[in-house]
This record gives sequence, C-alpha cells and structure tokens, in this order.
Amino acid sequence: MSRRTVSILGATGSVGTSTLDLIERSPNRFEVVALTAAKNVAALADAARRTGARLAVIDDASLLGELQGRLAGTACRAETGSEALAEAAAGEAEWVMAAIVGCAGLEPVMAAVGAGRTVALANKEALVTAGGLMIEAARRSGATILPVDSEHNAIFQCLASNCSSDVSRLVLTASGGPFRTHGREEMAAITPAQAVAHPNWSMGAKISVDSATMMNKGLELIEAHHLFGLPSERISILVHPQSVIHSMVEYIDGSTLAQLGSADMRVPIAHALAWPGRMETPVEKLDLARIGSLTFEEPDGDRFPALGLARQALEAGEAQAVVLNAVNESAVAAFLAGRIGFLDICRLVEKALARTASTAPASIADVIEIDRGSRLLAGELMREIAA
Ligand SMILES: NC(=O)c1ccc[n+]([C@@H]2O[C@H](COP(=O)([O-])OP(=O)(O)OC[C@H]3O[C@@H](n4cnc5c(N)ncnc54)[C@H](OP(=O)(O)O)[C@@H]3O)[C@@H](O)[C@H]2O)c1
Repeated sequence: MSRRTVSILGATGSVGTSTLDLIERSPNRFEVVALTAAKNVAALADAARRTGARLAVIDDASLLGELQGRLAGTACRAETGSEALAEAAAGEAEWVMAAIVGCAGLEPVMAAVGAGRTVALANKEALVTAGGLMIEAARRSGATILPVDSEHNAIFQCLASNCSSDVSRLVLTASGGPFRTHGREEMAAITPAQAVAHPNWSMGAKISVDSATMMNKGLELIEAHHLFGLPSERISILVHPQSVIHSMVEYIDGSTLAQLGSADMRVPIAHALAWPGRMETPVEKLDLARIGSLTFEEPDGDRFPALGLARQALEAGEAQAVVLNAVNESAVAAFLAGRIGFLDICRLVEKALARTASTAPASIADVIEIDRGSRLLAGELMREIAA
C-alpha cells in the first residue's frame, strides 16, 4: 500500500502535535511532506528531522537562519513567507492538516482547497470568516473538506450513509467550559490562567479562552452552517459537561444518532487521517459503566452572550461573521496579555457588530480587508472602554 503524503500547517500547536503523534506511530501509512509553524523553531526543526519532512516553513522571517542551522545535514528545505506557506499547503501532499490558529490560516487553507487537496480542517476561524467562498472553491476544485473539530467530525460521522435531506436538526454539544456554573460577578474577576484551564480538553490558549466564553461554540455554530448547509434555526446547542457525546444528528423520523468518544483530539484527527477507512489510536476506549451518567442542560445565553452574538452574526451575513471573529481574536489576545477583563471580550464583539453593516464579501481579498478593519476597530473600542 502506498503511503499517504501529508502536510501539517501549524505543526507545533496542540492539534499539530497530536497529528504528528498519530503519524509517527504509523510510519508505514504516512509520508510527511511539509510542516509549518509561526515561531517555535526548535519544535518545528525537531519534528522535521524526526519525520523526514522535505519542507519546513517558519512564519517569523527573523528565525529562518536558525531553522536552516537546525536542519543542516538533512534533505529538508527551510523557508519563510507566504509563498512558502502556500507551497506547504498546496504542494505535493495529497492530505493537508489545517491547524494554524485564527484567520492567519485562511490563505493557506484556501490554497489547499483551490488545489483540490483533502483538507482536514481544524482551523475553524478560516471557515467562519470565508465559509461560503471556501465551500464554493472546494466544489470547483474537487477538494474534500474533512471536519476535525470534534463536534463537526461527530456530525460528519453521524451523517455518513444517510441522506442529508432527511436531517431535521444538528445538535452541537458543549462542555460549558470551566465557568459553566459561575455567576456574572465571579466571571468579571477571571484570570487568563483560570480561563486556559479547560476541565475536559487540553488545547491551545486561544481556543481554551473561546471555550471559557463559549465563543468557541458560537464559532462552531457558524462552522456547522457552512459545512453541512443547514440554517441557524436547525442547529442547536446543548450543554453536556462530561464531553462524551461529541454531537448528534436528529432525523425526520425521530431517530437521533450520536458519536461518543474520549475527550482526546486524536480521535477525530485519526478519523480524518485514515478517512474513508479507520486506524488504531492509543486513545483510551470509553468505559460507560465507570462514567455512570451523562447529563444535559440548556445553555445560558445571559451568562454566555457569545452564543447569541454568533447566531446574530450568522443570520446577518458573512461580513458580520468576519467582524465577530476578528474582534474576538483581538480581544482574546488582549485578555491573555492582561490588558482587558474576561467579560470585556464579548462586550467588544457586541459593540463591533453594532457598528457593522451586513454585506457579503465577494472574495478572499474582501474578507482580509474586513478582518484588517475589524482589528483596528477592536483597538479603538479597547481604548474607549479603558477611558
Ligand atoms: N486544540 C484543540 O483541541 C482544537 C480542537 C478543535 C479545533 N481546534 C482549532 O484548531 C486550530 C489550532 O488550535 P490549537 O489549539 O492547536 O492552537 P495552538 O496550540 O495555539 O497552535 C497553533 C499553531 O499555529 C501556528 N501559528 C500561530 N499563529 C500563526 C501565524 N500567524 N502564522 C502561521 N502559523 C501560526 C503555531 O505556531 P507556533 O507554535 O510557532 O506559535 C502553532 O503551530 C484553531 O483554529 C482551533 O480553533 C483546536
């Protein structure tokens, strides 16, 4: 059997290293072509050496010399810049893991999609900001987009071999994050260290804060709309604190299919890596007798306004989704840097949406322009709330 050629965009992050872990356990199945990172030159070079990658791309150009030095004596080319990133995304690999965090991943994802690759999509912000354009580009190029976000991967699995026109509703489950039972007053004092400590999942800092505000579930609502083509009113959110059921599909006949598994990203990543087959993973199998009970509750939109803001942005049109995402990214970075409070994140998003007209970006250049403008607006709004 020939090995599947793979590239990993964002190879040094949480999803990237989980993907590498699975690939390195199955060297007979996968051949690594390209790996990329932003700044973590040591981890990037180390992974490139271990896997025999042919191309390593570092986003921070000042680190190129160090990357070259660390890769000396190997056949791996060290590069920087957007062309090299596009080469990593759309070059020789047939399968591409999109695991850059934030809208920074949009252009490489579009390069992979435009080149007709099989794209394992973790980078939800790319889909949130340019979902319509991305799905249309995939239709034209013949690219396959495999959802890696555990919820969307679960829905993808539950839809398999069923007719999507028979679906009545998608149910995205949510752990509720570390502050599920906190009151608003307690939330005002939340620190970055508390916000990144997720009760069930081990993830990068940005998505951990998004889970704490529940903006993550809001982004996933928009993501589900683009991936599965259902309107906002047919996608619901259900809090399920144990994170055992990763999402569900309800059918018109009253059947509901769910996908269950341990809270370990290697499960959905393995599904995408081996798709349309399956592969073994070292992930602990579920012991439902030990878990004992699964519980569910409605999300609280008053304590978690991000859910309503995301639904509002989805219903208002694609420009609003770009603004929601960009202002959230800026606000999360400011929160992690200790410059704003936890509750300010959603306050800023709400203010920015109120100042945005509903338009539909016609191209990726339009999306990038709206993203850039929204980050400037986020800066202005932060100065306003600090005054
Ligand atoms: N972690 C999870 O369990 C999980 C689950 C579902 C979905 N996702 C989604 O997957 C994506 C990645 O999440 P993560 O938790 O793995 O993030 P992460 O741990 O922060 O890793 C991000 C990766 O992207 C690289 N990167 C960051 N900024 C970049 C830029 N401007 N240009 C190029 N590369 C850049 C980082 O490089 P450096 O290491 O050099 O900074 C790193 O390799 C996010 O969109 C997230 O929402 C994650």
